[in-house]
Parts: sequence; C-alpha cells; structure tokens
Amino acid sequence: MVITSKMGIEKKLFEYLKNHELPDYLLYTGAGGTKNWLELDRARTFPVARQLKTLLEKNLESILRFIPTGMSLVSVGVGSGEKEELLLKALIRKNLAETPGSGEVPICYYPVDINSEFVDLALARVRNLPVEKRGVVGFIEDIATFKKNWRLPVLFCILGNTFCNYEPEFILQLVRKTLESGDLFLFDASLLPAEGLEAQSARKSILGTYASRENTLFNMYPLLHYGMNPEDLDFELLLAHVDSRIGSVCRTRKNLHILRDSEITIGAEVIRFRRGDVIRMGFTYKYTCDQITAFLDICGFDILKAFLSEDRTNTIILAKRST
Ligand SMILES: C[S@@+](CC[C@H](N)C(=O)[O-])C[C@H]1O[C@@H](n2cnc3c(N)ncnc32)[C@H](O)[C@@H]1O
Repeated sequence: MVITSKMGIEKKLFEYLKNHELPDYLLYTGAGGTKNWLELDRARTFPVARQLKTLLEKNLESILRFIPTGMSLVSVGVGSGEKEELLLKALIRKNLAETPGSGEVPICYYPVDINSEFVDLALARVRNLPVEKRGVVGFIEDIATFKKNWRLPVLFCILGNTFCNYEPEFILQLVRKTLESGDLFLFDASLLPAEGLEAQSARKSILGTYASRENTLFNMYPLLHYGMNPEDLDFELLLAHVDSRIGSVCRTRKNLHILRDSEITIGAEVIRFRRGDVIRMGFTYKYTCDQITAFLDICGFDILKAFLSEDRTNTIILAKRST
C-alpha cells in the first residue's frame, strides 16, 4: 500500500531548503537515503540502533511472554526490518507452539516506512515466513489511513530510537488514538546516561555519538548530493534542556551552518545560500527512564514491562492503553 509517493520527496526537499529547514525524515529518503542509513547503522561510532537490537535479542523471550498469540505485527519506521524479523519469528514460534496445526499462522505483518526501499527490504527478510505480509509506504502521521486494513489485535512497534525524534506528547497521543483496547505498544529508546554519571560526562558521551564524522556526513548528505562540498558547511549539535509538562527534559538540536556562499541544484531549481545562513534540522530527546514513565502515565498508558540494559543506557518498553 503506497500512501507517500517517491516523486514528492525532491519537491519537499526543495521547499524546506528554500526556507532553511531540513527535517530529519528527508535524510532517510530520496537519493542515498537507504544506503546512508544502513551505513550509519553499521558505523562503530554510531551504535544507537544496534545496541537497541542487542537489548531486544536478550529480552525476546521475556517480551514474548506478555504478547498473546494471534497478535499481528505493525512496525512504523521499520528501516531494514532486522528487529521485526526477530520479533516475527518469535511470534510465529509462539503461535505454532500454542496452536499446532496447519503450519499457517493467522497473523499479519505490516512493515511501514516513508521509504519504499526499506519496506521492500523488510518484506524480503521474512519472505519465507508463513504469515501474511502487507508493506505500507507512508508517514506515521497518516496512520489512521492505513489502520483501517489491519488485522486486530496488533503489536504496534516504533523501534530504533525513532520514538525520541518526536515530541513526546504528540507521538504518544497519536499512538493512543491508533491503538484499540486489545493492542500493545512496543518501543525502545536510547537513554540519557545521566543516572550515576556526572552531567559533564553524559554530555560528552551524547555529543561524541551524534557529532561523529559518520553522523555528520549522514546529516549533510542531501546538501552534498545536490552540489555542496563538505567544506561549505558545518554541522552543529547542541544539547539543551527544554521545558515540558513533566519538567525539564534534555534534547539535542541540529543545525547546518553555511560557511561559504554556495548553491545546490535540485531538478531544474537552484537554491543559493549565503555565508552565515543556518539550516535548522531535527532533534532527538534524551530521556531518563523515569521521564519516559511519566510521559506514558500522563498520556494514558500502562507499562506492562520495561527492560533496561545493564549499563542503563537503553530501554525497551511494552505498554498498553490504560482503561
Ligand atoms: C532511526 S531509523 C530506525 C530504523 C529501524 N527501525 C531500526 O531500528 O534500525 C528511522 C526510520 O523511520 C523512518 N521514518 C522517518 N520518519 C518517518 C515517518 N514520519 N513515518 C514513517 N517512517 C518514518 C525512516 O525512513 C527510517 O527507516
């Protein structure tokens, strides 16, 4: 099911850049988006999504204990679908063990992403598994449109630290509206390494990851692809505290600073930048576990189980709508 067309992406990129903005989702789409993310995810200096996969692998059996048989799997922002392959295989094992029979498992897998190449990759990984599969190319913001076709109940996943790229109350309200009473919500987050660590070293650790050369190039790529040179711009990563309903929360903020007068060409359109221009980019929240718990609480979720890595820097949370 295709809700977002590939054609629209260059147009969106042009419109945003003209206004000196570059939303993060455009880094994952368009020319090079798939390759760039897969390379960043493999980079030694950027272990964020990989560590979350390790945590999922370690806790898979425990997570499964909380998931009833017959639950379909929806994963938004599926990327290459590695984590979903693990989950789906475990769900199938559980279904087959509890209801042995034809070998067919009455669940459906819906990998969702704005980038159709990721949806294809995610589907290819599980090609031989005995469940129905329906890929969806679309934005999480349009979830109500594709929700109509789901086979209920669903395990609704947002994995790979993607949850932290959204305003917390926005994403939680969207998920809450999407879930039916029998559905479950599974998401992960890379946490603020603050508890037990000095603020200064927490800061250093976050900046080290997000300001690494690999992540810098990942963030600059659309501008490089359409004609700029790495020397024309500088990637800035700020770490700030922002107010929220649960108190002060830590958040990164990204900007690209134009160092030289330069231009890019997108299709037939040219955008000129002046030295000193700033292109505003997205953000990532860095929560503590207690802050995530507090947001879930005020947005109407009950935590069924929270898994924490040994060093307390990664978490996976299984929740449901509170009644
Ligand atoms: C940080 S990556 C995580 C990928 C994967 N879940 C993992 O754990 O490796 C974020 C993914 O979300 C997708 N994405 C970004 N914005 C989205 C949106 N608004 N709706 C749906 N998917 C989106 C990107 O294309 C990308 O595949």
